[in-house]
Amino acid sequence: MVRTALPTLPVLTEDAALNPARIAALQEEVRALARRREAVILAHNYQVPEIQDVADFVGDSLGLAIEAARTPSPVIVMCGVFFMAETAKILNPERTVLIPDETAGCSLADSITVEQLRDWKAAHPGAVVVSYVNTTAAIKAESDYCVTSGNAEAVIRAIPADRQILFLPDVFLGTWLKQSLGRDNMEVWMGECHVHAGIRTREVLARQAAHPGAELLIHPECGCTSQLVWARNTGRLPSATTHVLSTEGMVKRAIASPADTVLIATETGLLHRLRKEAPGKTLLAADETAVCRYMKQITLPKLRDTLRDLAPAVEVDPAIADRARLAIDRMLAIRG
Ligand code: 13P
Ligand code: SF4
Repeated sequence: MVRTALPTLPVLTEDAALNPARIAALQEEVRALARRREAVILAHNYQVPEIQDVADFVGDSLGLAIEAARTPSPVIVMCGVFFMAETAKILNPERTVLIPDETAGCSLADSITVEQLRDWKAAHPGAVVVSYVNTTAAIKAESDYCVTSGNAEAVIRAIPADRQILFLPDVFLGTWLKQSLGRDNMEVWMGECHVHAGIRTREVLARQAAHPGAELLIHPECGCTSQLVWARNTGRLPSATTHVLSTEGMVKRAIASPADTVLIATETGLLHRLRKEAPGKTLLAADETAVCRYMKQITLPKLRDTLRDLAPAVEVDPAIADRARLAIDRMLAIRG
């Protein structure tokens, strides 16, 4: 592990509730510490608004990996969940990668173990293993390709049609890819993200009916994706305004869409960025209860403490990192 040789900074305590003045003061503190540490702050689109607003870069999983690969900063702070910080560390083994709360996990990443993957591979010799980025470093090390929702279609298309594919761990993303690309020789693991799995077809259709003419943007991890795509393909939903997209794709589409109202079927944290980048539009969650508590574990006081203490630092076993990097590099080479 390489850490920058900087002096220990004073210990502060954070008891106060985060009112606007406190948020502004903490953000100033965070920016000052980031300058002192020469740190870059990366934040996922699902982070709380005050973290997004203090970050150097806010984006989807693919964007975060791209930024982590190209930043010259000696210190990277990942405001997201643990697999995102692990990915940044794998891409930057010589740098300090920090995460403000190392217990920020992911139900989807937890839905497959290395032993299960090894058994699955043994049952399908010769198959190409494609793992969603929401996986542990150890799972990536057992994979041929890594993908995100931003480039999964392009990566699957790049694999010769006669090669069997084992796709993991998200059953909804995998099923949508299999159906939309007509890839019959693709086996899909039965994992899910509890947040996206809980976004139900009935509620999304009701919300869409209440806002006729609205753009409906669906994340492929949603439990309702296949049914909504079927509704679109059979004319129940308008094809021009119903799209399956990564969170970054949703931002681009919301900005470009001629519709005044945009409904998003994903984690509600994205609304903050959308409201900044598509200010003239009415931006609504298809399901307001779609909140990832793991993402919300990252708070300004924790971010401040992380920059102050240069901890918690993320470590990945170099042998695992070297193998995982191959799959991640393939993901970065095919951007969709
Ligand atoms: P993207 O940001 O890649 O669309 O993924 C969403 C997600 O659930 C990340 O945890
Ligand atoms: Fe994981 Fe779902 Fe949270 Fe994304 S929203 S970090 S997939 S639990």
